[in-house]
Amino acid sequence: MYRGRADGDTALLGRGGSDTSAAYFAAKLQAERLEIWTDVPGFFSADPRLTGSARQIKALSYDEAQEIASMGASVLHPRAIAPVRNAGIEMEIRCTHKRKMPGTVISATPSEDAPRLKAVSVKNGVRLITLDTSGMWRASGFLARAFEPFARHGVSIDLVSTSETSVTVSLDDDPSLTPAVLTALEADLAEIARVSVLEDCAAVSLVGRGVRALLAQLARRWRRFAHYPVRLISQAANDLNFTVVVDGDQGKPLCRKLHDQLIQPKPLDETFGPSWAELGADKTAKADAPAVWWRSKRDTLLEACPENDAVYVYDRDTVRERCEAIAGLKNLDRGFYAMKANGHADIIRTAVEAGLGIECVSINEVEAARAVAPALTPERILFTPNFAPREEYAVALEMGIHLTLDGLHPLRHWPELFKGAGITLRINPQRPEGHHKHVRTAGPEAKFGLHRDELPEAIELARTAGAKITGLHVHSGSGISDPEHWRRVGIFLTETAQDLPDVKVLDLGGGLGVDEASGPRRINTDQLDIMLGELKTAYPGYEFWLEPGRYISAEAGVLLARVTQVKQTPDARFVGINTGMNSLIRPALYGARHEIVNLTRLDEDADMIADIVGPICESADRLGAQRLLPETREGDVILIGNGGAYGRVMASRYNMREPAGEVVI
Ligand code: LLP
Repeated sequence: MYRGRADGDTALLGRGGSDTSAAYFAAKLQAERLEIWTDVPGFFSADPRLTGSARQIKALSYDEAQEIASMGASVLHPRAIAPVRNAGIEMEIRCTHKRKMPGTVISATPSEDAPRLKAVSVKNGVRLITLDTSGMWRASGFLARAFEPFARHGVSIDLVSTSETSVTVSLDDDPSLTPAVLTALEADLAEIARVSVLEDCAAVSLVGRGVRALLAQLARRWRRFAHYPVRLISQAANDLNFTVVVDGDQGKPLCRKLHDQLIQPKPLDETFGPSWAELGADKTAKADAPAVWWRSKRDTLLEACPENDAVYVYDRDTVRERCEAIAGLKNLDRGFYAMKANGHADIIRTAVEAGLGIECVSINEVEAARAVAPALTPERILFTPNFAPREEYAVALEMGIHLTLDGLHPLRHWPELFKGAGITLRINPQRPEGHHKHVRTAGPEAKFGLHRDELPEAIELARTAGAKITGLHVHSGSGISDPEHWRRVGIFLTETAQDLPDVKVLDLGGGLGVDEASGPRRINTDQLDIMLGELKTAYPGYEFWLEPGRYISAEAGVLLARVTQVKQTPDARFVGINTGMNSLIRPALYGARHEIVNLTRLDEDADMIADIVGPICESADRLGAQRLLPETREGDVILIGNGGAYGRVMASRYNMREPAGEVVI
């Protein structure tokens, strides 16, 4: 659709190539503005099929849009950009079923100046052809000769990288590149150099104006991707594109990881809008989404929400199901619920009834658990303190619960406590994991655990104190979705246990990921069980334990709050609710993304973008930024998902506002 400059005419065009036609018409008519109305609200920062955290891009320069469209984004044909760019016409991609929502604006001057990564994309089926010969060293015209056969066989080259004696080019997956063409090309190239072809690679590209300036940021993350062998790196001189080519099966995981790590928008971000997952929060796109318990219990929840207060609601069935999933792992010797995630009496009881023990981090937790679940014998309690005072160790030993030491101080300074006791040592495996730096509990900066090099001293101190080291423990972080993590930990612990003949128990910690608003991350318990089975077969002498918290309770809980006020400023829309970071601090502390819906109007189209804020006197009191909601009114019930773990337990009375209460249904 375009509007003519003279009298505001509008033209509607059809499908299939109509974006390119529209661009030419707009240029011809000297339109002020070109709007392309389609079925998605613009460009996204990644292929939404790859990651639900792909974000809508609000503003792009013509160059960036050209680059992203050429990388395979299907929203706009790459040839639709040149006509409007040449005529200086602003273009906007809008969505027909989210009519009020702004789309991606493409112009010469996107709203911000700083270099910014806009998109991460992956192309599969990429082929690398390498020409090796010392004959190219200082041989002028070599590249011209090397590229000539490509031109002759009609083969288009994408990326090029060279050294003194080697040239590598990448070819896109192109149906016209038949085996016959390729064989002929190889034969011609073989006349000038040794030729090797690497099939089935994937090119992962970072796209954005000034991408070069972002490489330092990337370098810090790159260490984490050391296990992706990189076949080619190319940085385009236009400073828009940085591409790495990796093996085919690694392209998508790498793209997803890079995207989710590098594109983390700020509140009120000028560049990025809502994520694909959030956009899916309306009823049209939710039709085939997996059932979430709170959708089917909506009426009960609406009734449970007080008029003037907020409340956490926990679904006992979901808690039980999760406890049973852990207790039912065939190859797990013992499972414990880390009650720090949620110490509600009902959740502790449900865990204990399902056969789990309880993992505690303070003596108060131990006492609370014992008070609500009399069936909880000392044998079923783990105590994993960190920098706790002497008294708590003394009480734990007195109670006869499993005690984990995560430093040498207790053995060195209070040896008398440990006489005749069996103890577990927490080891820092030096490899941090987890969803945010605050929850990574391993690595050189971590305050948790013993370094493996300290073990000889720990052994000696334990011997002198008359204690036996009967267990080893690792917990490297929280919110991990790859079961391989626990295999690595298991192997690390068996290796560490080699000099410790009394060790019988290897506790692999918690950290099991759950589904988040940013994407599905729930740990696959079948895979976990298989992995545990393999560990047990390989190391039959040990018992393996796990101690998840979040996995048990996170998805079972929601926070319900009433809308107090709505505010529209020239820059943003705010939906205010009657509780905030005093009830749920995770968004402020970790930038955590929790799903947010208007429960009262769950069936209405969500097409307004708003920040959901609380009544606390802090700018960080923002529970969600740039969320899609339906037209929301005072008194509506807002539901915040994944409220069952690290919600109420981390709440405060800041501003003398009582945090949300708790009910179990
Ligand atoms: N075991 C130990 C020794 C732990 O330190 C923790 C959590 C767990 C088990 C349970 O981890 P989980 O399965 O829940 O991930 N407040 C943060 C999480 C902090 C986790 C602290 N330790 C958050 O809201 O994400």
